[in-house]
Amino acid sequence: MHKLSLKNVELKNKKVLVRVDFNVPLDDNLNITDDTRIRASIPTIKYILHKEAKKIILMSHLGRPEGKVVTKYSLKPVAKRLEELLVIPVRFLDGCVGDRIKKEIDNSSEKVVLLENLRFHPEEEANDANFSRQLASLGDVFVNDAFGTAHRAHASTEGITHYLTSVAGFLMEKEIYYLGNVIQNPPKPFVVILGGGKVSDKIGVIENLLPKCDVVLIGGGMAYTFLKAGGKSIGNSKLEKEKLDLAKSILEKAKQLKKEFLLPVDHVVVDKIEPNAKIELVNEDIPQTKIGVDIGPKTIALFQNRLTSAKTIVWNGPLGIFEMEPFSKGTREIAVFISKLKAISIIGGGDTVAAITKFGLENKITHISTGGGASLEFLEGKSLPGISALTDK
Ligand code: 3PG
Repeated sequence: MHKLSLKNVELKNKKVLVRVDFNVPLDDNLNITDDTRIRASIPTIKYILHKEAKKIILMSHLGRPEGKVVTKYSLKPVAKRLEELLVIPVRFLDGCVGDRIKKEIDNSSEKVVLLENLRFHPEEEANDANFSRQLASLGDVFVNDAFGTAHRAHASTEGITHYLTSVAGFLMEKEIYYLGNVIQNPPKPFVVILGGGKVSDKIGVIENLLPKCDVVLIGGGMAYTFLKAGGKSIGNSKLEKEKLDLAKSILEKAKQLKKEFLLPVDHVVVDKIEPNAKIELVNEDIPQTKIGVDIGPKTIALFQNRLTSAKTIVWNGPLGIFEMEPFSKGTREIAVFISKLKAISIIGGGDTVAAITKFGLENKITHISTGGGASLEFLEGKSLPGISALTDK
């Protein structure tokens, strides 16, 4: 990596300002329903503690409060969970800038401090220079460990880097390594699995990864637009009409580049998308009144066959409507199969990660990205402002 990282800077007796992505889901009673992102920040926090920093000042956003104080988006519940995970006290402060906050940080007996939601201030998303400067004045060095927010040029991710030495945290480094370095230079064969609802969401990823990979496996809602573009009948399945030409040109490009671009060869279909709908299996062509909701067993076997020899696998987007149990088999069987392979497996995108977690396979995958939009943009080959703004080595 060309950027400074945590191990390149002196932390002893320093006030270390860390941008984390604690944008975690909460239920109506403000209980955290998935603490993955909090857990993912622990190695960075523990390392800074171990290096005897004077203070660790954590800052994050949560939700989209649109520049106003919205109680349900407070980071207070996160401070409690963090305290449990670190097994040391964490001080929660009800603001993130200003003299009072500065004093409270300096006077707190706790080493770890969590500031209130940055997005309660409109200046955060506006990347306001004055707000960035105020945030920067809280610390001596800045660590960005918020990979999930690295695609946003906000005050706490980009603006702040103009005022402090800015380094990548361990989570950020790990994400850059797997989604960046490994994919740039993947051990081959390199198989890319793409699914999810829309072709339009994955165009950038296909364009970036097609030249680098050997095989592309397509499933999920987006498969039907490709199938239609290839002359198949798709019944009432999801179709992005305006993307048909684009789908055709991608199929053509894959042919020119001599890449295998595999579409489903059979389908689970229903008359209506509801969990207890009667399911049927059909081959390539879907009858007129039917809707495709998952890949069928022949497709599962075909995809598994191509995955067997893979050395690198990148997967973004579920292969069926996995949220409904009867339509989750394709996604589940492919996930279980990958979990048993020796290949480097990299999974990105909120829905795919949710599927892997639902199947309890999260410890059997090489790297599960904590980024939704950020991992998609990274897989598209875009440079992310939160990374490019960090101090060069
Ligand atoms: C995410 O959940 O993808 C990140 O925390 C970024 O959130 P945002 O899309 O509201 O900027």
